[in-house]
Amino acid sequence: MVFSGSLCFCDESKRADSPADYELRACLDADNFSGSSVTEMKKLSPSRVVNIADLRSIAEKRVPKAVFDYLDGGAEGEVTLRENCRAFGDITFRPRHAVAVGDCDLRTTVLGGEISFPAILAPVGYSRLMHPGGEVEAARAAGEAGTGYILSTISGHRLENVKAATKGPAWYQLYLVGGREAAEGAIERARNAGFSALVITIDTPVAGMRERDPRNGTPELLTGSIFAKLPFLPQVLAHPGWLTAFLLDGGVPRLENVLAPGETGGMPMLDVGTALRKSVVTWVDIHWIRQVWSGPIVIKGILTADDARRAVDEGAAAISVSNHGGRQLDGVSAAIAALPEVLAAVNGKTEVLMDGGVRRGADIVKALCLGARAVLCGRAYAYGLAAAGHAGVVRAIEILREDVDRTMRLLGCRSVKELDPSYVRYPSDWKPSS
Ligand code: FNR
Repeated sequence: MVFSGSLCFCDESKRADSPADYELRACLDADNFSGSSVTEMKKLSPSRVVNIADLRSIAEKRVPKAVFDYLDGGAEGEVTLRENCRAFGDITFRPRHAVAVGDCDLRTTVLGGEISFPAILAPVGYSRLMHPGGEVEAARAAGEAGTGYILSTISGHRLENVKAATKGPAWYQLYLVGGREAAEGAIERARNAGFSALVITIDTPVAGMRERDPRNGTPELLTGSIFAKLPFLPQVLAHPGWLTAFLLDGGVPRLENVLAPGETGGMPMLDVGTALRKSVVTWVDIHWIRQVWSGPIVIKGILTADDARRAVDEGAAAISVSNHGGRQLDGVSAAIAALPEVLAAVNGKTEVLMDGGVRRGADIVKALCLGARAVLCGRAYAYGLAAAGHAGVVRAIEILREDVDRTMRLLGCRSVKELDPSYVRYPSDWKPSS
């Protein structure tokens, strides 16, 4: 995140942009660049990495504080960030014992496509700063696991390369960064590359105030002069492995999928706040997007019955009940607590996903019991990416999948499609008042 401008750390000629480039870099710098070096695989052995929190600890050691806190942190007092995870604890299971479950069927369908287990990788901006393989490696791991990947607009990799890396469904998350013309170009490219849905995130009229970022000098490291960066450089130099990989990757990546009309290079990476302030999405824009994208649209960032009904009226094929992982408006309810109200409002007229706070397979099972079709996971796999690239994402998915399978067996339920509210008890004030 250091390091544009006068330090000349951003060497475009060094940027690896095709899968073949990644293979080459992987050979040159097996430990630091590739997603799955032998060292990284060892680091992730099942005795060392038992749960997602273990991946988080490894990520914290591997990347500079500015990168880790960008990934880990939330808005303001981080009340909603904490609440997203804590609220899953308010749901208790009601298992059926002495039931022979046999093989559990974890498959479900989302937007008409089958996924092998009910979790999809959420859009995570700046993934290429967490690991050079970034979005490409995360998408590859999702495809190998038979599930979907959502590519953020705030991506350092070309969307064509991301799509080519995965065998699974790929959706493109659209911000209007760069205006409607740039968005139209990205939509056209996404269509041609084979992305099967657009995800419109509606909870970012401005970036939330993530207090860890200014303290770490993130804006200075991204765009400041050498003098502005100086006070914040020690934390970066303390992570030579990450720094070497970052420099070999060409430094701060551009937003490869945001092309102003007539330009060939992606937009230089701005700090998140500037980018988002210029890209407010309204229902009017969603109406416009429907004219230029005929495929399914997923609206992400719904927390209330009113917005859910509006999304249905605007033709959303699915919605995600989400507070952006506690990174936007602090003080909103946990995403899982908003799920019952939204489900009641849409009344089966659209598919309902949820995201926020999912760190264990049991959380996924709880969300499905309440009525979600599937969940999106953000930090759970991004910790893996920051910890060890591709191998880290693979391990994160493996942990969640094994958790879901085990939880289903302990619950006495043989298929995720059979989960329903009778398997849980949850706070009565989550239910909408009739
Ligand atoms: C995000 N999220 C996000 N969402 C989005 O629509 N576009 C984006 O570019 C990003 N970028 C982003 C970066 C980072 C570092 C994080 C952690 C999250 C939000 C993401 O898609 C999802 O809503 C949350 O991550 C869900 O919460 P958990 O699973 O992280 O608790």
